[in-house]
Amino acid sequence: MTQKLLITNAAQLITMAGHNDRPAKKKAMSELEIIENGSIYIEEGKVVAVGTDEEIRADYQDLIGTESHIDATGKVVTPGLIDPHTHLVHAGTRENEYAMRLKGKTYMEIMEAGGGIHATTRATQTASPEQLYEESWKRLDQFLLHGVTTVEAKSGYGLTLEHELKQLEVAKQLDSEHPVDIVSTFMGAHAIPMDEKDNPEPFVNRIIDEMIPEVARKKLATFNDVFCERGVFTPEQSKRILEAGKQHGLLPKIHADEIEPYGGAELAAQVGAISADHLLKASEQGIKDMAKADVVGVLLPGTAFFLMAEFADARRMVDRGVAIALSTDANPGSSPTISLPFIMNLGCLKMGMTPEEVLTATTINAAHAIGAAGEIGSLEPGKKGDVTIFNVPNYLVLSYQYGMNHVDTVIKAGTPLVMGGQLQ
Ligand code: NIG
Ligand code: FE
Repeated sequence: MTQKLLITNAAQLITMAGHNDRPAKKKAMSELEIIENGSIYIEEGKVVAVGTDEEIRADYQDLIGTESHIDATGKVVTPGLIDPHTHLVHAGTRENEYAMRLKGKTYMEIMEAGGGIHATTRATQTASPEQLYEESWKRLDQFLLHGVTTVEAKSGYGLTLEHELKQLEVAKQLDSEHPVDIVSTFMGAHAIPMDEKDNPEPFVNRIIDEMIPEVARKKLATFNDVFCERGVFTPEQSKRILEAGKQHGLLPKIHADEIEPYGGAELAAQVGAISADHLLKASEQGIKDMAKADVVGVLLPGTAFFLMAEFADARRMVDRGVAIALSTDANPGSSPTISLPFIMNLGCLKMGMTPEEVLTATTINAAHAIGAAGEIGSLEPGKKGDVTIFNVPNYLVLSYQYGMNHVDTVIKAGTPLVMGGQLQ
């Protein structure tokens, strides 16, 4: 039987059409294509037709009222949300560090004392693949319940070849078995192992000579990411690691200028990174370089919120012509959340973005940040039938009411997986 799905009469159908070749920048980030009383028809997992209810309904009359029909009257329909930066596969939680930070310890102090990323690395190294799979599966279910149909997922809590491969293999298995799609990033350069702190060069060399070639040979990742920050990887080490990844077909991403200005944004432009992420402290020059080199800025306001830090200046970046995407940074240390809708609230309230821009930043621009804009991120014929339906009368309510989950229905490749806010 052909798989068919007809969604009719949405109060607002937001298509995000027209940005497949390049991400939306500047004013284009605010210009949403909205179809009032919109309908959409999906067949065999792909979008076939999008238009007004009048236009679409006439062609698919026979589906009305059947199991293949969803009435979206009074609701908002968007492309399935995309989270372009997560540390999905890891073991355990770090609420003890949260309590320490509330008493005044900083994130970097905790990491330098062997906690932070090192704590999750120990837990992840000890964990079996089955345990990692189970923990991450539950996180993916939560993403889905919050309207997210695709996530990027980084390794980086293994820090040895064996354990980095373990994380990436779990991500691969989840990608094929969980309905949420996963795009993988190798991030061996997430931290320098504690016992090599004083002499990091051998570790940098192992990433370059052993880990990157093996990850590429096994086709376990699309991207290669580095935590370029004082006390972690220098710009020079980051550059070597990213260039080595390129040699093996892994496209560069960077955790850039999160804690202090460190030349990460500039480096992203120099190596032709697909995205530079965080950017809380990015320099004016770095922002200009990114705009010129078409590097997507992936902003993670949940991290600033949770670390009680100053937020990235999204307004300035959009105005300077950087294409912006938004993400949760889901991880147990600096942003323990999977709520991309809450990140959209923060984008507006704390980074000066408009409600229109945050929608662009979590759909088509997020797709560009993971090189997937040809398939997802907008509702246009030929694209994957990934759709989120929100139980709100207009999209403004999404970034106005905060800390609430308005997701009503989530459809992955034409199949409804969440209905009435519940997993099916
Ligand atoms: O994106 N900045 C580096 N890595 C993560 C945090 C990881 C952790 O604390 O476990 C981040 O914020
Ligand atoms: Fe991160």
